[in-house]
Amino acid sequence: MKRIVMISNRLPVKLSKTSNKVHISFSAGGLATGLSSFFESRPALWIGWSGITEERLTETEQTDIQEKMSAKGMYPVHLSRREVEQYYYGFSNKTLWPLFHYFQLLAKYEGSYWKEYVNVNRKFADAVIAQIKPDDIVWIHDYQLLLLPAMIREKLPDIPIGFFLHIPFPVYDIFRLLPWRRELLEGMMGADLIGFHTYDYVSYFFDCLRNIMGLEHSLGQVRIGNRTVKIDTFPMGIDYKKYHESAVLPDVKREAAKMMSQMKDKKILLSVDRLDYTKGIIQRIESFEYFLDKHPEYREKVTLILVVSPSRDGIEDYISIKKVVEEKVGALNGKYSSIGWDPVKYLYRTMNFREMMALYRMADIGLVTPLRDGMNLVAKEYVTACEDGRGVLILSEFAGSAKELGEALQVNPYNYEEVSEAIARALQMPQDEKEQTLKVMHRRLENYNITQWAEDFIEKLLSVRMQNEFITKTTLAGEEIGK
Ligand code: G6P
Repeated sequence: MKRIVMISNRLPVKLSKTSNKVHISFSAGGLATGLSSFFESRPALWIGWSGITEERLTETEQTDIQEKMSAKGMYPVHLSRREVEQYYYGFSNKTLWPLFHYFQLLAKYEGSYWKEYVNVNRKFADAVIAQIKPDDIVWIHDYQLLLLPAMIREKLPDIPIGFFLHIPFPVYDIFRLLPWRRELLEGMMGADLIGFHTYDYVSYFFDCLRNIMGLEHSLGQVRIGNRTVKIDTFPMGIDYKKYHESAVLPDVKREAAKMMSQMKDKKILLSVDRLDYTKGIIQRIESFEYFLDKHPEYREKVTLILVVSPSRDGIEDYISIKKVVEEKVGALNGKYSSIGWDPVKYLYRTMNFREMMALYRMADIGLVTPLRDGMNLVAKEYVTACEDGRGVLILSEFAGSAKELGEALQVNPYNYEEVSEAIARALQMPQDEKEQTLKVMHRRLENYNITQWAEDFIEKLLSVRMQNEFITKTTLAGEEIGK
């Protein structure tokens, strides 16, 4: 079986340094854990940034980390403070992230960010080239590495390269704002297969290829030089079995029961996000306030548990949004709290898996209302963890997952009236309707789970590569005859 070389900006580890000691924890969530059963059946190597700047590590520490990670099938790319500043905080998260999420006023177009983005993508390419074996399959992830496919292709023309974008791909009129739009498309087009979560993103990508590079597609395939690039939809799933089974584990049930008794029979609305302006946290708090204004009968009866995990705190826009969220929570609690009740319980921290499962289990409503989101796996996790027919999902129409979860109560997060009425409707929903909608969504999430997603992607990638090998062979044979 061929080895898969996964490449993402971050390795699935958390590195921290306290009093000259480096701690590595292999992360319990996300892509890596989701794919663990997929990787059990085949060899794999994961290449990515360790998450800590190289200035903070001595040479001995770097070697030590390298050894520990290699035992786990990982290879770290070390980044300097300057590279992290300009490539990660800069171009990735102050240019691409806001723009691809339609926050064009927040996007910064700095030549120095771009320069370092190119350099770091090159650094990743060198690491891949040094590690790669002839039979490997390369799978690159996300917006931090848009140039990598072409950089690897240049050195290894015959290797299968897949690229998957985990965030939205914007419409042409947004993408064209980028001064480096052509270079970014050329970078992506080094892949054999480019995957997006939804068909909308695929079609916006086709518009950009046509308008910027003059390339047309035919049945989802684009010819570039003597290669074909396939562009397709792969809605990322979750580890359905894990979430479904964990929801009924005794310690999760115990934790949920404890939380429920502390909440004293209040109906629970749950919101879980990284702290990010794309997640619509402020609008969510305001919608909840609107709901309490309009529905006084629910005051003292409903609590919003707002879990926000710290993220990208080196960026001004993230620091300022934290301040606004905290002011809004304070103001709303000040307005409506009583001695025995606070409308919002705000938890600013990263929850562990058991706590998360317990929250999913106890929540009557999952309130997932991002302003823009590539997919949003919290929506899928919540639905999967809902059992006994408990739980209603309220989902933003601007999340990629809305395309698959049509049975959820879908809302426009900017429309407070609509969100407020969806909350009221969810609170009154008859039990059999809840059970019915959950059942349909469960079936879908179980079928297209994360393993299925990865297998589907790799299978398509190998078939496009075969097609490309065939084109190369026939072109070479044609040239021979023409001689
Ligand atoms: C999003 C991106 C990922 C990223 C994650 C956490 O889900 O698509 O690529 O890893 O956010 O962000 P961070 O900047 O902490 O890696």
